[in-house]
Amino acid sequence: MKVTGTENKIADFSGEVIVVGVYEDGLSPPADQLDTLIGGSITRLVEAGDITAKPNEVTTILAPSGFETLRVYTVGLGKKEDLCARRAYEAAASAAVVLSAKKVDKVGYFLDDFWPAEMVEQAIAGALVGVHGQDLYRKEKKQTPPGEIVWSSVTDDVIEKGIALGNAINLTRSLVNRSANDIYPASFAQEAAVVAENHDLNIEVWDKARLQKEKCGSMLAVSQASTRDPRLVILRYNGGKEGEPPLALVGKGVTFDSGGLSLKPSDSMITMKCDMAGAATVLGAIKAIASWKLPINVVALCGLVENMVSGDSYKLGDVLTSRSGKTIEVLNTDAEGRLVLADVLNVALDEKPMAIVDLATLTGACVVALGMDIAGLMTNEPDWCHELEQASLATGEKMWQLPMYPEFSEQLKSQVADLKNVGDGRWGGAITAAKFLEEFVDDTPWTHIDIAGPSFAEKPKPYCSGGATGFAVRTLLELARRQATQ
Ligand code: BES
Ligand code: MN
Ligand code: ZN
Repeated sequence: MKVTGTENKIADFSGEVIVVGVYEDGLSPPADQLDTLIGGSITRLVEAGDITAKPNEVTTILAPSGFETLRVYTVGLGKKEDLCARRAYEAAASAAVVLSAKKVDKVGYFLDDFWPAEMVEQAIAGALVGVHGQDLYRKEKKQTPPGEIVWSSVTDDVIEKGIALGNAINLTRSLVNRSANDIYPASFAQEAAVVAENHDLNIEVWDKARLQKEKCGSMLAVSQASTRDPRLVILRYNGGKEGEPPLALVGKGVTFDSGGLSLKPSDSMITMKCDMAGAATVLGAIKAIASWKLPINVVALCGLVENMVSGDSYKLGDVLTSRSGKTIEVLNTDAEGRLVLADVLNVALDEKPMAIVDLATLTGACVVALGMDIAGLMTNEPDWCHELEQASLATGEKMWQLPMYPEFSEQLKSQVADLKNVGDGRWGGAITAAKFLEEFVDDTPWTHIDIAGPSFAEKPKPYCSGGATGFAVRTLLELARRQATQ
């Protein structure tokens, strides 16, 4: 798929499909021009109530004969005053979902020329995300990307950034959507190597022997039942000043979570290929950051294991020695994400980062607390969490802070070891998990994002097919952009 810009007016566009935006309080200028060209159909549909212009509502209009364009799609943008980056991303994506249901050569997106560059970038990325579905392994795909998308009123720089962001989100999505017999620690590491090669990143891959040498006893225990060996991938992007402490992005990469001996019931296991979404998200984010050439140093760490069952399984009651030296009593092998992150966070500290963000599909409890669409934020440093909240407000990816009262740590006390890997019972499970992680970050400013809800959609949305969503790639890029310009 080609993505280009055009100086052409809507009247001079040649291609089968045109997309224009409509607001609840009036047509966008391009929609208005197009309306005149096609004999007032848009206005009539607005008057008839067919077009309400509610966010992400897509309406198909057949262009009159004699017109080169066959179909016009209007996409709802809501009220003008509520226009924001998220609206732009989702609206462009919603139109893309609909138009990619048919095979099309050339599509024109005609934007309002008053949209700021940041919104246009998000729209371009959104369209790229919208045209790709989750049916990676199906011969006859439900969606087909058009041959070319043409954007009006955009500069080359904005197009390049939009494409880079869209491709990064789609990388994250496809890694998560790929099944666990396809993406496992070694094959994920290979995909990371491709990203490193294409974007000139420094990459280090720790195999099982190296992890043993590094005394990553906590992460190794989780992986030991699997025939697939673990990996720890470290990617470094040095766009900032030499010696400037990097931003560390840490991702949970459990390529399949069976629960281990604390086996999950079948229904809960079905989607557990998604349990490496944290790792896929930090890989997508560093790819986007590097493509945008942001002046900042970033290190991404992906902790990759498969949590399986065999005669070699780690057992309930086992005491593990983590890389930090802290010992952990295992009381539930399904609370494995925190065991992986315990060691990966410790490795991150070796990079002397200015701050850490970790992303993990860590707890079902977080989904109970906040629902499917909102990520939980937990931190040891409110100011650092605030930076992330500001970035998430800018992109519109919803994140909400949960409290980290010290009392929760009481629940992690073990009779035999420094810590146990679960709290006392289910209540507040997202927070006890975060309290466990906090034990492994020393005094470094750190924010944990529990993405168990929003990273994987069981049902499709107007702006995204079901499956992996690529959630948080945009916010991490925005965070890096803000840190870089400081
Ligand atoms: N990977 C799961 C969490 C999860 C649940 C992710 C639903 C995506 C959707 C995690 O490893 C897990 O199993 N957590 C347990 C923790 C419990 C044993 C303390 C959970 O949430 O039940
Ligand atoms: Mn688990
Ligand atoms: Zn898990």
